[in-house]
Amino acid sequence: MIAFNKEQIYIVTGASSGIGRATALLLNNLGASVIAIARNKQRLESLKTDCKNPNNIYIEIKDLCENINDLPNYVKSLKEKYGKFFGMVYCAGVSELKPIAITEYEDMERDFNINYYAPIFMTKGLIDKRNNVGYGTSIVAISSIAAICSDKGHSIYSGAKAALCASMKVIANESVKNKIRVNCILPSIIDTPMTNASEEEYLRSQLHLYPFGFGNPNDVAHMAIFLLSNKSAFISGQNYILDSGGVR
Ligand SMILES: NC(=O)c1ccc[n+]([C@@H]2O[C@H](COP(=O)([O-])OP(=O)(O)OC[C@H]3O[C@@H](n4cnc5c(N)ncnc54)[C@H](OP(=O)(O)O)[C@@H]3O)[C@@H](O)[C@H]2O)c1
Repeated sequence: MIAFNKEQIYIVTGASSGIGRATALLLNNLGASVIAIARNKQRLESLKTDCKNPNNIYIEIKDLCENINDLPNYVKSLKEKYGKFFGMVYCAGVSELKPIAITEYEDMERDFNINYYAPIFMTKGLIDKRNNVGYGTSIVAISSIAAICSDKGHSIYSGAKAALCASMKVIANESVKNKIRVNCILPSIIDTPMTNASEEEYLRSQLHLYPFGFGNPNDVAHMAIFLLSNKSAFISGQNYILDSGGVR
């Protein structure tokens, strides 16, 4: 069984919704302390209300795209407030459907900021050995199946998620010397507010690819928790597809 203790402090970004919320709840239920980051205070407070150990969940309101260059300092400030980190699950993200014909540079920038630059610079902060516990530290980034194959309208999102997988693999290599593990999860469609914002017709057209139905946020959360835990101590630099049966 996977269990943590409250001295094990993890950052979870995107904790106000969907996959990040499920991950923060599960991690907290299993005994860890969670720094829950997002912009929406009300939804973060509801996360605290719903968790098993509310004293071990700490809310941080933050727009991760506000000053990306400063994110390593932000991680340092969190370390000074809470203590050294055992790891992070980076779940924050946006997904905008837009054909390339009407895509502007600003659209690319918005997508890459939250889906690529911010996770890389949060990771840069985390792997700084002044901010983590060394051996036992594990970082998980939620990429997407879109990194490998995607639908029309997702050229920029796919690019950002593919870049994230590629860079995290290199960072995993660079972090071996400090005994830090780094992995990505590539989910296909998961039933979250992000998915619910998609057109019903699109979702209906995809259902036949999912013999077990669309995923649940907990399906991703359990994988993330495994990758944080010492049960995965032999695993680093990997990209795990979660797509309900290899339909792609
Ligand atoms: N759902 C899927 O089918 C699916 C499939 C593959 C991959 N993914 C990936 O999984 C991750 C989580 O997606 P989800 O489905 O759980 O989405 P979601 O329910 O929409 O949650 C997205 C989270 O990102 C946070 N966020 C967005 N912009 C932010 C910013 N500038 N600063 C800080 N936080 C920000 C949001 O918090 P606030 O709004 O409170 O800031 C929210 O907590 C994303 O990276 C997504 O690309 C999702």
